[in-house]
Amino acid sequence: MLGCGSVGSQVVRLLGEQADDLAARVGARVELAGVAVRRLDAPREVDVPADLLTTDAAALVARDDVDLVIEVIGGIEPARSLILSALENGASVVTANKALLAEDGPTLFEAAEKAGRDLYYEAAVAGAIPILRPLRESLAGDRVTRVLGIVNGTTNFILDKMDTSGAGFADALEEAQALGYAEADPTADVEGFDAAAKAAILASLAFHSRVTAADVHREGITDVSAGDVRSAREMGSVVKLLAIAELRPTPEGDDAVSVRVHPAMIPRSHPLASVREAYNAVFVESEAAGQLMFYGPGAGGSPTASAVLGDLVTVARNHRQGTRGVGESAYADRAVLPMGET
Ligand code: HSE
Repeated sequence: MLGCGSVGSQVVRLLGEQADDLAARVGARVELAGVAVRRLDAPREVDVPADLLTTDAAALVARDDVDLVIEVIGGIEPARSLILSALENGASVVTANKALLAEDGPTLFEAAEKAGRDLYYEAAVAGAIPILRPLRESLAGDRVTRVLGIVNGTTNFILDKMDTSGAGFADALEEAQALGYAEADPTADVEGFDAAAKAAILASLAFHSRVTAADVHREGITDVSAGDVRSAREMGSVVKLLAIAELRPTPEGDDAVSVRVHPAMIPRSHPLASVREAYNAVFVESEAAGQLMFYGPGAGGSPTASAVLGDLVTVARNHRQGTRGVGESAYADRAVLPMGET
């Protein structure tokens, strides 16, 4: 495992507590071979045996006895290089790294394809909510036309606070920080970068296209005032930061993908209006299934670790059986409209 912060610690805990069940589901015991961390003496939420800790992540992913690498350090580098080394070395990878997948997913998918290994990342979008597998697999025979998501818990908490208490943005942000939802530097949340990365990943899977964060029109919630939220309330609506990915007809009669993140007013009768506090939800519209909503905790160590462990079981089982998951190779040659153009 690479990283042992709030998600990594919970992965270690679950690997220990669920060891017997995991062994039954995988068909073999899953053993933690090592945990790469920045500082050996940093305080951690769980006890990790000292002989498993290392500061040499590159050496850990190069080990011949490692079949699976879990990447929970986040950010672009060194995560990208370590994932690529792991795949080249014959290991499969489970990652929660939305920023990396949204910026450079295709490089990772191609490396996994070339290596004949799995690359799973359910934890990268909406924490514990199973949404990527349904889009990639369960709905693969349907035609998804639109995905609307509340995919950032911090901003949903802030907007919900503004709606229920009449607070201004700054006070609501302060409360989100005090409760540990927002980071000390909340830019990625409140400016919509985090939601835009998740929107790119959702759009890629929903429309079998290659969408990166640079394709997403992005607007955060820093300019949403108490007055805006009050006006929405008077109109029977609520303000939410929405990630919107949809198919738009082109003048040539084809479909193109449009992806954007911005605050939007939605009627209180819409299922997404009932998503409170730091919860996430993804509302999917498809031709055959109609409307679906996936709802749950979108962040936090334990919920995100649940998604990591789910991927781990699938990947470990595939590895044992000598098979691979569906991968990301089947892409439609569909245009992506620049910056969420409609
Ligand atoms: N900062 C993110 C959020 C964490 O608030 O939703 C999960 O990606």
